[in-house]
Amino acid sequence: MAAISVSGKDRVFVLTGAGISAESGLPTFRASDGLWAGHRIEDVCTPEAWQRNPWRVWEFYSGRRADGAKAEPNPAHFALAELEAKLGERFFLCTQNVDDLHERAGSVRLVHMHGELAKSRCENECGRAPVEDRTIYTSLDEVGRCACGGLLRPHIVFFGEIPLEMDRIQEEIGKATLMVVVGTSGSVYPAANFVHWARLGGARTVYVGPEAPLNAAAFTHVVEGKAGEVLLGLFQVG
Ligand code: APR
Repeated sequence: MAAISVSGKDRVFVLTGAGISAESGLPTFRASDGLWAGHRIEDVCTPEAWQRNPWRVWEFYSGRRADGAKAEPNPAHFALAELEAKLGERFFLCTQNVDDLHERAGSVRLVHMHGELAKSRCENECGRAPVEDRTIYTSLDEVGRCACGGLLRPHIVFFGEIPLEMDRIQEEIGKATLMVVVGTSGSVYPAANFVHWARLGGARTVYVGPEAPLNAAAFTHVVEGKAGEVLLGLFQVG
């Protein structure tokens, strides 16, 4: 497809999903060999799973931390950081990913709506901020406690919990004239609705990934290909 022109008046909102980190060697969730093929969501990623067996949850996320520590940003992460460097505050990145590959590529104006692997927080809503924690735990005994006594849990939005930073995300979508969605299957809400919100505001909407997402009909353009191959050179900033 021809390059997408980004003019001096455009404001760009980018949403990324697991597909953008696939070329860094991190598995996606819903591929036939993805994370949800090997693990049951209800065992490792729900508030009930945490109540029932916090070690099972920590074991899963310790595995994700181990994978993340080995991964490096790929050309797709760098392409978005480069676009941000050109657009400054007219660029905003919202990722569903909990890895830190976007920031390691240089992205700054970003939010992690589903949390961050490199942080832990109190299991109680005690108000204390998440703390940096990259520990790969090998037993529950190693996991620390908050000053309030609560066990530390991964700073991850479990299924059934409310995504983070939604006010800021809605505000940025409201201002966007171009939405670019990369590497997400369009099966998890509210992220799968962002394209509809952007369309309501009159924005152009572009999807990039090797296969059409479930919400493909809502995009004005679908660019089929791997993010690392398509994103570099996709934007023509005028
Ligand atoms: N480049 C771009 N996209 C890719 C690539 C690639 N190289 N490889 C795979 N993809 C696409 C797949 O085609 C698929 O559409 O990435 C998408 C991954 O989809 P999912 O596994 O469903 O991941 P995601 O959409 O990010 O999941 C959303 O679900 O389990 C939860 O909280 C978790 O944030 C996650 C949310």
